[in-house]
Amino acid sequence: MNNGLKGQSHHVADIKMFPTFVRSLPDGSENGEFLALDLGGTNFRVLLVRLQGHEIDIQSKTYLIPQRIMLGTGTQLFDHIADCIGKFVSEHDLLNHSLPLGFTFSFPCQQEGLAKARLSKWTKGFRCEGVVGEDICELLQEALKRRTNCKVEIVAVVNDAVGTLMSAAHVDRNCEIGLILGTGCNACYMEYLDNVGTWKHDDEKDHHPRQVIINTEWGAFGDNGCLEFTRTEYDRELDTFSINPGKQVMEKMISGMYMGEIVRLVLERLANEGLLFRSVDHESALFERGRFYTKYVSEIESDTDEFFRHTKQVLDELQVENYTTEDCKIVKYVCTLISARAAFLAAAGLATLINRLNKQDMTIAVDGSLYRFHPRFHNLMCLKIKELVKPGLKFKLSLSHDGSGKGAALTAAVSLRLRSLKPLPTDSSQHSLTTQETVSVRA
Ligand code: GLC
Repeated sequence: MNNGLKGQSHHVADIKMFPTFVRSLPDGSENGEFLALDLGGTNFRVLLVRLQGHEIDIQSKTYLIPQRIMLGTGTQLFDHIADCIGKFVSEHDLLNHSLPLGFTFSFPCQQEGLAKARLSKWTKGFRCEGVVGEDICELLQEALKRRTNCKVEIVAVVNDAVGTLMSAAHVDRNCEIGLILGTGCNACYMEYLDNVGTWKHDDEKDHHPRQVIINTEWGAFGDNGCLEFTRTEYDRELDTFSINPGKQVMEKMISGMYMGEIVRLVLERLANEGLLFRSVDHESALFERGRFYTKYVSEIESDTDEFFRHTKQVLDELQVENYTTEDCKIVKYVCTLISARAAFLAAAGLATLINRLNKQDMTIAVDGSLYRFHPRFHNLMCLKIKELVKPGLKFKLSLSHDGSGKGAALTAAVSLRLRSLKPLPTDSSQHSLTTQETVSVRA
């Protein structure tokens, strides 16, 4: 983490520790009507968020991003997003409204302003051509111009971890860490600017507290080989067949996009060695890559008696025949090992941040389907964090609802308020926030 923060080592560091332009947390006085976008999980969502202090009304619609678009060109991706926004805006009768938009874009970005973020690499299932190195706000704004006639202006781009933190901090002042355990895994936290060697933005004149939210991008921990001592043959096989081999090593040991597949690889080997499902047919989906979903792990681990109702349901879905109760026990045991390893790794990362911040009482806002639906993840993490934090530090993991939508809207709200405090730019090409713009409300 220190390597990522330092100017001299940032370019070779695996954990990038990107400074966002979010400099302080919301205070509950944010108001207005906003569009928010959420791109980076299994679905793409468009949201209409109405903020009135602590009251929030959210309407949203989920759109599919077909795989051909996830692996197509950037233009196709942003045109698709713009089309969805266009439909949403006209369905909600908002075509004539000027709407500020907060964009939750959950990929590693080097931010140059609150509404200027260059993609540093794709992660999870995305690999769209022509986007790495580009400002994604500009790409989206151009697509909106091309494909719609809505009056939408992107005023903030945030990572999902940052959105989660913003959204929780809106109601809990002890919250200074955001964590995502979903399709991917990532964390952010509030850092003092004096520790951020990569922060190059002149802030002599501003009155923000000298701190900024850091998007750690810790999913890339291990990309330099430092986790080899604990990776297994299953981790290596999963990596070889992924679309980004060698990248996001820690994320691949933890998050929802991969956990089911690791379980499947273990079960496949046990079956091939005759230790499980003695008469399994190789046509079964158990032998197909990507067919054992992480939600199965959560379902299987929620079986608490000898009837194995969920486990049997999953095995039936995978067309495994003639399994025994002993097989069910083994399948569940494998799931518990792999999810516990994931929870412990995530806990190790969190404990590092908690120790670093060194505050007496700390709330960690958590979002993501893995954390939400897995029956033991929360408890396993708490157990391990307790072992790893400095004595006397108290912490609480708290589920954050709709961080992506609400967090993006809150960030957008704050940025607009800031803008209204400043003289409008005279150059019409500078219609968006300048690169010096940051968000601060609590100061
Ligand atoms: C991946 C992305 C990161 C995101 C996380 C959770 O790690 O690189 O930006 O926050 O997934 O969605």
